[in-house]
Amino acid sequence: MRTQVAIIGAGPSGLLLGALLHKAGIDNVILERQTPDYVLGRIRAGILEQTTVDMLVEAGVGAGVKKDGIAHHSIELVFSGVRHPIDVHGLTGGKLVTAYGQTEVTRDLMDARNSAGLPTVYEAANVSVHDFDGDRPRVTYQKDGQMLEVNCDFIAGCDGFHGVCRASVPAGSITEYEKVYPFGWLGVLADVPPVSPHAIVYGNSPKGFSLCSMRSMTRSRYYVQCPLDDKVEAWSDQRFWDELRSRIDPELAANIVTGPSIEKSIAPLRSFVAEPMRFGSLFLAGDASHIVPPTGAKGLNLAASDVKMLSSALAQHYVDKSPNGIDNYSQRALARIWKAERFSWWLTSLMHRFPDSEGFGQKMQEAELDYLVHSKAASMVLAENYVGLPLDQH
Ligand code: APR
Ligand code: PHB
Repeated sequence: MRTQVAIIGAGPSGLLLGALLHKAGIDNVILERQTPDYVLGRIRAGILEQTTVDMLVEAGVGAGVKKDGIAHHSIELVFSGVRHPIDVHGLTGGKLVTAYGQTEVTRDLMDARNSAGLPTVYEAANVSVHDFDGDRPRVTYQKDGQMLEVNCDFIAGCDGFHGVCRASVPAGSITEYEKVYPFGWLGVLADVPPVSPHAIVYGNSPKGFSLCSMRSMTRSRYYVQCPLDDKVEAWSDQRFWDELRSRIDPELAANIVTGPSIEKSIAPLRSFVAEPMRFGSLFLAGDASHIVPPTGAKGLNLAASDVKMLSSALAQHYVDKSPNGIDNYSQRALARIWKAERFSWWLTSLMHRFPDSEGFGQKMQEAELDYLVHSKAASMVLAENYVGLPLDQH
């Protein structure tokens, strides 16, 4: 097979890149090791920055988010038993975020790709990337017992944190930065009305972090911080609901509608960045290059901004015959990535209880929360990062 861009991975990054490249008239094929149902079965994020929504519209898959996405003009911080609204819309001159699940984003992108008849190879086994340091890169993979090859101009590594692309670059050519947090998130999905459908609620209590979110007006998403070695089997639904209630304010706790969990899992938290994001004709985008703790809801939005930059860089190459976009991609993407990493690390540090944070450290956290909700300047900093910084900040 011959194509212009071989995309590895059919998660949000790969699918969105494929859609934007197709719109620019650039041939592409996606190789995905799992099945479509497996990809859709991953329960992930649910808050979209406006730039991400705009990209879905640009890619021709904006109908779902426009119809079912729920605009959030504010968020709420709850600590010491009191809930404080942060008027994100007012503090950012009218910007907002949209609640719309990653699963729905992925399904919309999959459906659009299928409708356009674009090639996606699911259950592609043993995908390997070759000769990307030269001008004839290629990808090999196995399908139905056959070894197959894709010859291309460029390879896009959209294969996530555990993918093959980052693992295939020469050891000395990449630098990895990582911070692993000493706790995890226990998340529950339940088909019950969200307790706060128009404002995500972030909690910091002596028992740890909590988060009240949603996927729709009938489906809620909740999290509580838990020890890294905790086991989901140790958490009955009732234990979860009781623990969540104990970490928020009495009014909110009284209004939570509980029900059976349809998904319950524990996820670790890490900050991770691999630099650079280009290796000859191989480019990394999304989780293949970086991971953020989910606190700031930046993972999917960073993947989208990488893809926006990479798709326009490839369009410059093919349409304008200019190398500038691909030459600048890594530096441009990393500038936004590191700012989102900073925000995600800061909000995680502010809202969670750390095993070693007692005495002075705890008082600093409490002072910062008190300052944050009473200072317009401090709230503006939170708000402008929460809605998403511009693609390019000069
Ligand atoms: N060969 C082919 N496909 C692969 C390989 C491989 N060797 N390794 C991984 N993949 C596929 C995975 O099965 C997955 O479908 O690549 C895809 C990567 O998708 P994601 O992990 O979702 O990463 P990305 O598309 O960048 O989306 C980032 O997902 O993890 C969340 O918080 C993150 O919301 C953010 C979003
Ligand atoms: C979610 O709905 O999964 C979610 C929302 C906001 C966050 C993190 C996760 O900051």
